Amino acid sequence: MRAVDLIIKKRDGGELSQAEIKFFVQGITTGEIPDYQIAAWAMAVFFRGMTPRETANLTLAIAHSGATLDLSDAVPFAVDKHSTGGVGDKVTLVVEPLVAACGVPVGKMSGRGLGYSGGTIDKLESIPGFRTALSMTEFKRQLKEIGVVLTGQSVDLAPADGKLYALRDVTGTVNSIPLIASSVMSKKIAGGAQAIVLDVKVGSGAFMPTVAEATKLAKRMVDIGAHVGRRVVALISDMNQPLGYSVGNALEVREAIETLQNGGPADFREHCLVVAGHLLMLAGRERTMRAARGRLEKALADGSAWGKFRQLIQAQGGEVSAIDEPDRLPTASLIETVPAPRSGYLAEINAREIGLTSVDLGAGRDKKDDPIDHAVGLVVHHKVGERVKRGGPLFTVHANDADKLETAIARVLAAHKFSAKPVKPLPLFYKVLKSR
Ligand code: URA
Repeated sequence: MRAVDLIIKKRDGGELSQAEIKFFVQGITTGEIPDYQIAAWAMAVFFRGMTPRETANLTLAIAHSGATLDLSDAVPFAVDKHSTGGVGDKVTLVVEPLVAACGVPVGKMSGRGLGYSGGTIDKLESIPGFRTALSMTEFKRQLKEIGVVLTGQSVDLAPADGKLYALRDVTGTVNSIPLIASSVMSKKIAGGAQAIVLDVKVGSGAFMPTVAEATKLAKRMVDIGAHVGRRVVALISDMNQPLGYSVGNALEVREAIETLQNGGPADFREHCLVVAGHLLMLAGRERTMRAARGRLEKALADGSAWGKFRQLIQAQGGEVSAIDEPDRLPTASLIETVPAPRSGYLAEINAREIGLTSVDLGAGRDKKDDPIDHAVGLVVHHKVGERVKRGGPLFTVHANDADKLETAIARVLAAHKFSAKPVKPLPLFYKVLKSR
């Protein structure tokens, strides 16, 4: 087999066989297929799509491109969550320790930023010393000892996704249903958790623009999960405005800390409670969402969720003093708050524009090995539907470059739309899909 023939077959709309997909994924893993052919193939998949069978074969080939974890000797039942990518989406930072504090082990492999969406691993790396490359032995040991672990794409687990993910980020091939579904589910399968909550984002700041597209993606992932015997729940959630207020790595860590300390923005806290509630129910820890919420709210109020986060940071070598005193996290040199140019109801905060501006400030990458600036980003001060007064704070830009600061201000101002008439707040969730 030759990689070029498989690129041509996909380019012309053919269905790749299981053997062809295995060959291609193996070539990605070993490095025998060069980046330019992988990128061309990803673009062909982007335009031509994949059948459910091809997507399932791709997922399994990626999941088995490295080792797969069997967690049963570490914990009897582990859960995991995954977001399809959003703007200001720091949910993992709160949900993981929160669920673990309620006695449900949670082990997760997270990604870096992708396109205009942030990545948990980039966020965590704003904490000095935090190690994101754990070996499988370390992963299991930590899960057993403290019930929570958060690693980056390791060389051991789903390595083909690590390579493909980094290439997709910089080749315009992110928002493809088969590529997202296989990327997410391969990591979940390799990571070994028995139950998974998928947070499938929809809207201007998501890779799926409509609820119908997001549902299609969710269904494909739920079906793959069922096929490999995992319990999966997919939540279709809104991503038309940033989640919470902060966008940018260290800024988001600060907001997650506030939330874990029983504060934080109301929308973000609520989002975390719903995701965590589904995880507790999937794990059989609670029978109803009401009971799950009660337990979770208690873990936020009594400090146990915060304590679990501190344990997680410490276990992975992070400086706990930097989260105890978040002023010690990376801080930008130029911080400017911009006033609202008029009064009115906030009709839109275009999440995609906010995400792209944050990337331009340095919080994300243009090329796959670009370094990122953990300090920069944006903080919006309102949510859609709120009444804003002219001259009141609208958003704050955190920058390390004066030109970028000016460009960001103009762009973020344009991303805010006002209405003279009342505007309905956006919902947090649209639907829930479950595996049968
Ligand atoms: N998250 C992933 O892990 N992969 C994608 O492709 C998108 C979001």
